[in-house]
Amino acid sequence: MQDIEPFHAIAISRLAHQLKAEGRSIIHMEFGQPSTGAPAKAIETAHHVLDTDGLGYWESPDLRARLARHYQETYGVTVAPEQFILTCGASPALLLALISGFEPGARIAMARPGYVAYRNTVKALRQVPLEIPCDASVRFQLTAAALAAIEPAPNGVIIASPANPTGTIIEAAELEAIAAVCRERGIRIISDEIYHGLSYVEPAHSMLEYAPDALVVSSFSKYLSMVGWRLGWLLVPPEHLEKARAYVGNLFLTAPSLSQHAGLVALDCRDELEAHVATYARNRQLLLDALPAMCLTSIAPPDGAFYIYAYIGHLTDNSLDFCQMLLRDTGVATAPGLDFDPVEGRHFIRFSFAVSTPEIEEAIQRLTVWFAART
Ligand SMILES: Cc1ncc(COP(=O)(O)O)c(C=O)c1O
Repeated sequence: MQDIEPFHAIAISRLAHQLKAEGRSIIHMEFGQPSTGAPAKAIETAHHVLDTDGLGYWESPDLRARLARHYQETYGVTVAPEQFILTCGASPALLLALISGFEPGARIAMARPGYVAYRNTVKALRQVPLEIPCDASVRFQLTAAALAAIEPAPNGVIIASPANPTGTIIEAAELEAIAAVCRERGIRIISDEIYHGLSYVEPAHSMLEYAPDALVVSSFSKYLSMVGWRLGWLLVPPEHLEKARAYVGNLFLTAPSLSQHAGLVALDCRDELEAHVATYARNRQLLLDALPAMCLTSIAPPDGAFYIYAYIGHLTDNSLDFCQMLLRDTGVATAPGLDFDPVEGRHFIRFSFAVSTPEIEEAIQRLTVWFAART
């Protein structure tokens, strides 16, 4: 485990909390977590369930059926409720996909930059991460051409659209081309769709529309605003179900019962959830408008999620030191690109705009003055 890097944003967050305890005003833009809680009706349901239910080990058939309906309505994809394995967030769903889909030694391709847990979980399972450098010319995303060029063919690939840290979305035609290359070359796809529902250009497509045998990872943590409830799912093809289920009992038995009750209700709280998306869209635009005055003009197109991944190579060679300095000087906490890209990440910073609009406005004021003094 010695080559598994810590998540540097946690160190930034720790410093932010320490500064706050010393009386500083802090704006948390280091983590990708909604500042809103679960939808009100979900919380109401949870109160009722706490009073009336024993909360034993349980997997909600109603929630699995509701999720199946969600795939039909959103993507036009027909899946059976039994194909869903409810998990404690996307994190164990990813672990379950990797552990049930691949042997130790399997080579798993992924974009660099990418979510830190991809390479760390792959390494922890004694599998081999193949980090494919993806720059601005490919919107920081894997392409069908890049996958076709890997020799020998990898055993698996992790696709993320919208992606963390960039927010970029892979358009439908490219997803279809990726699915075709994977089919031809025998590459099993894990599709991380945790940021679905958070799109500012076109809605993201599910990989299932093009690759029905993909393993799909998703969660209640982002669009549904239920981070701490620890609820997510792994959606697998019928032939993979038995193998994946065999591990569930050993890893976590079931997802939290209380969260499953609340999650079922949350899926129907569209008005409240869409209001959050409207806030993120406003925050995103405010930041986009403000970045030129900070001379941060080289950014990944933030199609979805709630991130802006910006180039800061003209200002530093060490994004971790840079984020610490920025935090100490302004009280604005951000994530260093090093968390997402061990090579080029020293030249990038990630802003999360999943905060309130007044916080974004205050952050922009502080950041504009600070960056202006440096350029
Ligand atoms: C791309 C991506 N996948 C998975 C996760 C894990 O989320 P959770 O375990 O809260 O569902 C995150 C968390 O930020 C993420 O950014």
